[in-house]
Order: sequence, then structure tokens, then C-alpha cells
Amino acid sequence: MKTYRIVVLPGDGIGPEIVAAAVAVLDTIQELAGDFRLSYDVHQAGANYYLKNGKNMSAETFEAIRQSDATLKGPVGLPEVRLPDGTEAGSLGGVLRNGFDLYANVRPIKLFPKVPTPLKDKSPESIDYVIIRENTEGLYASRGRGLITEQAATDTLLLTRKGCERICRFAFDMALRKTRGAPEDGRRRVTLVEKSNVLRSFYFFRQVFAEAAKETPEVEIETLYVDAAAAALITKPQHFHVIVTENMFGDILSDLGGATIGGLGMCPSANVGEERAYFEPIHGSAPDIAGKNIANPLSQIRAAGMMLEYLGRKKDADLLEKAIWQALEKEGFSISPAGQVEKGAMVVAAALKEELERCYAAKKIKEM
Ligand code: IPM
Ligand code: MN
Repeated sequence: MKTYRIVVLPGDGIGPEIVAAAVAVLDTIQELAGDFRLSYDVHQAGANYYLKNGKNMSAETFEAIRQSDATLKGPVGLPEVRLPDGTEAGSLGGVLRNGFDLYANVRPIKLFPKVPTPLKDKSPESIDYVIIRENTEGLYASRGRGLITEQAATDTLLLTRKGCERICRFAFDMALRKTRGAPEDGRRRVTLVEKSNVLRSFYFFRQVFAEAAKETPEVEIETLYVDAAAAALITKPQHFHVIVTENMFGDILSDLGGATIGGLGMCPSANVGEERAYFEPIHGSAPDIAGKNIANPLSQIRAAGMMLEYLGRKKDADLLEKAIWQALEKEGFSISPAGQVEKGAMVVAAALKEELERCYAAKKIKEM
């Protein structure tokens, strides 16, 4: 039986509680699928680790990730734990994203049934797009490198041809792979979000995008300035299918998108490179609600689902999304307007277990 080596990083704040729920769901899936195994290797890393050890992660953990099939990471960071330069310590993005060249950050924004959204009259089917955030360059290429004097500070935005090309190709490929087209018209469409009316770097991105688009003539393309895109994600989210954008724009727009689908607690992500990947919620460690058993674990659970898909278990990943959909529809658990769950992360895992049992039983009957 195929065994996958999974590094688990529980992280800080609500991390350990939502990661526990995600691992419980993964265990349910292994058991029901019956044809693969996950072996977990749990490592401490992040802000609490930094407080004790003066670094975010050990060399041993980095090596374990290098040798793993995939990594499931909880949120990390604590606002009061900072580096001497004032930025947050404990953040692993620089180490993992740049360290392993995980250039694509995949952020699905999908509205599930009975999840409160601040947008009016939105049916669950009407929001279902993916943001492909470039993950290794853009403005955040300046991470830890900005220049600062008494009178001024500067951070530099970097876009390379190679970086733009590969992220555009990744987005076009996603537009072809995604199960459905845009909710509005069923079309497969990639929208480049940029700011070429002001910055030359984005005009460069736009040219590379247009060039790369020629490889997939079946996918529709468009470009949108980031300010207009922020508005459109509120006024017509149904229009979007795949969005590709620069690192910081993707960071900001994915939180905006998250707010339209029940909060960041609904939002998973994949950080993907040529050889490795890790999976995490898009949000932080929310220390203010840690230990209160109200954090929504779906971001972490759905991140685990994206990990299964990456490992080649697309059927299992699809069944998990279906189970989440059905559990929410039947109110096996619910999401409050504040984006929280009432009875805690493990109650969500238990409700999903019941629903997954139904899904796998139905699958078996179908296959008979
Ligand atoms: C995210 C997070 C990180 C980022 C932070 C914690 C460094 O906000 O994954 O979106 O900006 O990339
Ligand atoms: Mn972010």
C-alpha cells in the first residue's frame, strides 16, 4: 500500500487545534479509502519555537520537509514576537516559499451553502474562483531586504520573466483543470490583476501574460487593475474563474475574497513548486481566540484536501469537498456571521466523519 510521508507543523495560536481536526479528517479518509496511508512526522516551528530557540525552524525540520511527500502547516506567528527590524518573527513564508522555490500559491475562493456572506443574494454556486498568487517575487521579494534610514524606507518590487512566465502558465493550466468554468458564463478565463497604468513592472508582467496565453487559446484572457479588481470581487464575484497576480496583490485580494465566503476560516491554500509543496490556511494564528474552541477549522481541513489532491488522490479530495458541502447544507455544524464554529473544531471533524462515511458508501455502490 502506498504510504505518503507527511510533515505536520501545528504552528502557533489556533494552529494546534485546527491541525488536530484536519489530521482527524485525514485519518477518517485513509480509513474509508483503504488504499493509502499517511505517516505523520510532527515538528514544532513558528513564533513559539522562535521564542525558545532564536530561530523559526530547525535545520532538521527543513530537511524533513525536503524529504517528505508533502507538508501540512498550521498558521504561525504571534503579533508581539518580532525581529529587531520590527517585522514578525516566526513567519515561515520566507524559509519555505523561497527556500523550496514554491512559486505558486493557490487560493480557492468558494462559497458553501448556508455560510453567511456579507454580499446580498449570493447563491453558493455563484462564487467559485481561484487566486493564483505569485509566491516568490513581487514586492515581498524584498522580505528582510528593505533599506531603512532615519528619514526614508524602501522596499523593491521584483518581477522576472521566468517568474511571470511560470506563474502565468500555472494559471492557464489551472483554468483547464478546474472542474467548472466561471459561475457567470461557464467560461474558462484567466484574469491578470496588475497596475500597469502606474508601474512599468506590471506592464512587463502584462506582456509576458499575453505571450504565455498563446499556448492555451481555449482559455479566455483579460487584465484588470488591482483597484478595479478589488471592487469587482465584491460587485461581480461570479465573473471570476482564475485570477493570477503579483505576491502582495494576491495576499490582499485573497483576504478580501475570504471575507465574501464566510471569513478566512473557510480559506485553504497550497504553496506549490516543481518538487515540493505545503498546505496551510491563508490566515494567521488568531491568538485572541486560541483555546476557546471557536476557531473554524475548515481552512485547515480543506488545506489537507488540497494536499490529498497534490498527492494524486483527487477522488478523495473531491469527496472531502462534497462532504463539507453536504454537512453545511444539512447543518451538521454551522458557521456564525463572525466566521466561527459553535462547538469547536473536533465537532466539525466528527460531523465530517459521518458525511464522509455516506460519501464513500455512495461511491462504492456506484462502482459496483
Ligand atoms: C499569507 C500570510 C503571510 C503572507 C504572512 C503571515 C507572512 O499573510 O499567507 O497570506 O503574507 O504571505
Ligand atoms: Mn495574507
